[in-house]
Formats: sequence, structure tokens, C-alpha cells
Amino acid sequence: MLKQQAGIEACMYVKNGMKVGLGTGSTVKHTVIELGRRIHDEGLEIVGVPTSLATEKLAQKVGIPLLELSECSHLDIVIDGADEVDGNFNLIKGGGAALLREKIVAQESLAMVVVADDRKMVDVLGAFPLPIEITPFAHQSTIKQLGNLLDCRVNCRMSGDNPVITDNGNYIADAHCGPTIDDPVRLEGEILKIAGVVQVGLFNEMCDVVVLASDSGVEILTNPMGRLT
Ligand code: 5RP
Repeated sequence: MLKQQAGIEACMYVKNGMKVGLGTGSTVKHTVIELGRRIHDEGLEIVGVPTSLATEKLAQKVGIPLLELSECSHLDIVIDGADEVDGNFNLIKGGGAALLREKIVAQESLAMVVVADDRKMVDVLGAFPLPIEITPFAHQSTIKQLGNLLDCRVNCRMSGDNPVITDNGNYIADAHCGPTIDDPVRLEGEILKIAGVVQVGLFNEMCDVVVLASDSGVEILTNPMGRLT
């Protein structure tokens, strides 16, 4: 219910003619459904760029016209979920294993709106295990390097007996840092230096607004350093 409230409220940022990045997850799914409803019922004219195969399928089902990112010079906005949000609007993402496409789409967007419920707000990032997309090649070595760098347990995310495979054919390592990531910008740079790392689920200095649902209603948190002030 909270996820649905946040997901629907965020649609107020979407206007006719926009190119919209469509995030992945159980919160932003409600945004995608609502945008489909507005296209059908209100004649909203937008095109979407999905951040995962799952979102692509949902967007097609609800009737959102889609483009490839390479067909757009830029996107007007991306709306996406998050696993954690800190007080500086830095994020952990990738709980749904879609972090690489999510980050590429966010990077091409003029603004980023995050939809979340209030359990996602934290003082310091890292209680949620940090997702890191890695190459299948030598993944054990990459996981060992990550464990040494982060000084914590790092697991290959599994589905039964097999590694989870991302939409890009890679694996996900989850780093159990604990709530210790007080300098996410520095940590992102250090993790990206490891050769087998494709991308890390730290989204720093990207989020402009959080649409936050709690039992007392939906609140809009605006990043004072962001692009939607
Ligand atoms: C997927 C993500 C999701 O946005 C994140 O996991 C939040 O998902 P949910 O809204 O289901 O809690 O980063 O890779």
C-alpha cells in the first residue's frame, strides 16, 4: 500500500512529450501501471525507456510506447526505487539485480525521482547488502578482492544452486558491509577499480527528489543540491 502511494504520486513529475526512464522493482511498478492508465484514460503522450526486461514486459502490457536508450539524445526524467537512501540523497540500489541498466538510464536522465517507503531512509548506507554486478569470468577472484577491500562477507547472489544472472549476463555479488558507508563517493571509486566489477549499486549525487510514503502520508523530499529545486 505504501509502495503504491509513492509509486502513483511520483507520476506528477511526468508531463506530455517527456521521455521517461522506467525503473525496476515493486514500488516503481505502481508508477509504470499508473502511467499506462494515464496514457489510456487521459491521453498522456510519453515514451518510456525500461531499465530491465521485467519492466519492459510490464510497460508493454500497460501500453507505454517504448524506445531504446540509444534512440534518445537524453531522457527528461527517470523514476526508480531504492533499497536505501541516506540524508545526502545517495542511494543503494540493485536489490532487484537491475543496477547496471538503472545506472545507465539514470546517467542519461535530466532528473531522477526515487519512490520509496520510509523504511528505506537511513543515516548511513550499508545495512542493506551492497549489490555489485560482476563478470562471471573469475567471479570467485573478484569476490575475494571485494572482500579484502571492504573487509566484510561478500556472497555471490544465488537462485537455488545457481548464480543469479542479470539481464546483461553477469552475476551479482552482495557485500555485507553493515551501516558503515559514510563516504559512498570514495567507496564507489574504489570498488570500480577492481577489474571484474562491472558496476556497483551506489548511486551518488544522482537523486533529485524522493517521493516517500509513510503511515502519515506521502512526503516529497527535495535534494537542495539537485536539479528539481
Ligand atoms: C532493482 C532496484 C530496486 O529499485 C530496489 O531494489 C527497490 O525495489 P523495491 O521497490 O521492490 O523495494 O534497485 O535493481
